[in-house]
Amino acid sequence: MITALDHIAIAVPNLEAAVSRFLEDFGLQHDGNEIVEAAQTTTAFFSLPETHIELVHPLDGQGPIATYLEKRGGGLHHLCFRTDDIDSDVERLKTKGYQFIGDVPTPGAHGSRVIFIHPKSCDGVLIELSQPAEAPA
Ligand code: CO
Repeated sequence: MITALDHIAIAVPNLEAAVSRFLEDFGLQHDGNEIVEAAQTTTAFFSLPETHIELVHPLDGQGPIATYLEKRGGGLHHLCFRTDDIDSDVERLKTKGYQFIGDVPTPGAHGSRVIFIHPKSCDGVLIELSQPAEAPA
């Protein structure tokens, strides 16, 4: 079951400059950076009430975000819906004809499990489903 818009992710060519913009220029709370090996990214999260801003940057200059930046130079990358049962949501959406990128959820930031719905199933928007490591109380 979808429970919240978990975060909005922005692909950034210069992580340090972007963190500085959101931290110092916009005054958001920086929750820290995290390498997500499975996604080949470094992520930086900022807390806002009820959602987060995710800056996503290639780890070691490789992976899908590197390809995205080469093509588009940065931009709004995906929407992420929080779920309390990612496996049943994936199964439910697959039966409705949604196509996913990858067969099973993979490790995301903060110990979450994540999977992406293919943009062609959602009018060109990349949508991530994320189940937190521990469901919020
Ligand atoms: Co994300």
